[in-house]
Amino acid sequence: MTEKKFAETLSKVLSPSRAITSPEFLRGREKRLTEIERAFAVPGRQVFIYGLRGVGKTSLALTSAYKMQSADSDIINVICSEGDTFFSVIQSVAEQALPTDPRTIKSSEKVTGKLGTKGYGIAAEKYIETGRVPEPSTLNEALSLIEFCSNAHSDIPVCVIDEFESIKDHPSHSQFARFLKGVADRCISLKFIFCGIAESVEEIFVSHGSAHRYLHTESLERMPWEARFEIIDFAASSVGIEIDRTTKIRIAAISDGFPYFVHEVTAKLLWQCFDRGYQNGMQTVAADFTAALESAIAGIELEFKGPYDRAVEKYKTDGEYILWALADTHELKRNLGEIYKSYVTICRQLDHPPLEKQKMNVRLSSFKRDSFSKIISSDRRAWYEFPQKMMRGYARLRASRKDIHLDPDHPLG
Ligand SMILES: Nc1ncnc2c1ncn2[C@@H]1O[C@H](COP(=O)(O)OP(=O)(O)OP(=O)(O)O)[C@@H](O)[C@H]1O
Ligand SMILES: [Mg+2]
Repeated sequence: MTEKKFAETLSKVLSPSRAITSPEFLRGREKRLTEIERAFAVPGRQVFIYGLRGVGKTSLALTSAYKMQSADSDIINVICSEGDTFFSVIQSVAEQALPTDPRTIKSSEKVTGKLGTKGYGIAAEKYIETGRVPEPSTLNEALSLIEFCSNAHSDIPVCVIDEFESIKDHPSHSQFARFLKGVADRCISLKFIFCGIAESVEEIFVSHGSAHRYLHTESLERMPWEARFEIIDFAASSVGIEIDRTTKIRIAAISDGFPYFVHEVTAKLLWQCFDRGYQNGMQTVAADFTAALESAIAGIELEFKGPYDRAVEKYKTDGEYILWALADTHELKRNLGEIYKSYVTICRQLDHPPLEKQKMNVRLSSFKRDSFSKIISSDRRAWYEFPQKMMRGYARLRASRKDIHLDPDHPLG
């Protein structure tokens, strides 16, 4: 396979930088897709997908939207930003839903209805006259405008409203809640899928007692193990490379269920093999994984650098050595005795006198605090870990930049 072909093939099966839009590539979310489809079949019900950053909300929303949107038009997709309000979002929805030239709207029975295009309120009228959609100023005007969009857009129109948590304007939350009720009461067929973090959906519920009747919520968890393996296997087999089982488990574990990391580390791993001299049927080795992880983490360094530096700067040298000690070996969770052993070995490599065990322990524990970016966590039995597993990889990278040798990150390394 040529380099060009290899790159082309990987770009089809791995998507570290874009959301997924087709069920073929959406792993581990089959049940969610079905649930959303069923919610859509209930008249007046809309969908809210919420979960942690990067867990796959947009991918689930877009895949559902494309699946449900009728073929006569594209989906409507609005991404909220900080300055947005309820009215500005509705205006954006309308701008996308309607053609730039109002004359191109087919005057079907569905659009003109009994009332003709006059019955859709001032905002829709302005659009029909001028081709520009004004920002609606009342809830009723917003509803009429959306009703017009819904009828003019397509047979089954679907709209994704993404990054809903960006809307900071308080009154907007209750306006959205009342809007959902209005969409149901007026039998508007446009279906909405909102995406955001948990607090953003709570805002809507808090602002309107009956909002739960109009919303089907999907709390999106991290990706299950099986789905992580599917991403890895599918990519590897598409380029004819065999990834050894230990490496597969390793990628799945350190990704912590965030699909982005699975895509990114797998891509780096497969390129590592390619650079070693690509042959169909070749197998990965532990060193491929180590190099791939290092390169993946270096590529997203900015995400980790700030919290890492903030955590270590308070204790100067020792703080950083303690984090390296926790990141030593392939164990993701380590107990105090093991961490101390690693710490002493690291200090020896640096000709630095180690702290006593008790003192090191106090410092180790303080990393759990807010002021240390909560960079580590522990359970009651004094097992410590990096809650963000990629941060652990970043600590290893920082150690290797100082020529500190840590035991391999791969059980077979
Ligand atoms: N079910 C899935 N199967 C495979 N890959 C996925 C899946 N869901 C998401 N991804 C991948 O994970 C990454 C993040 O996905 P997405 O943008 O959908 O997450 P998000 O929760 O919307 O993130 P953010 O909080 O940053 O908006 C993307 O690279 C995407 O391709
Ligand atoms: Mg998103």
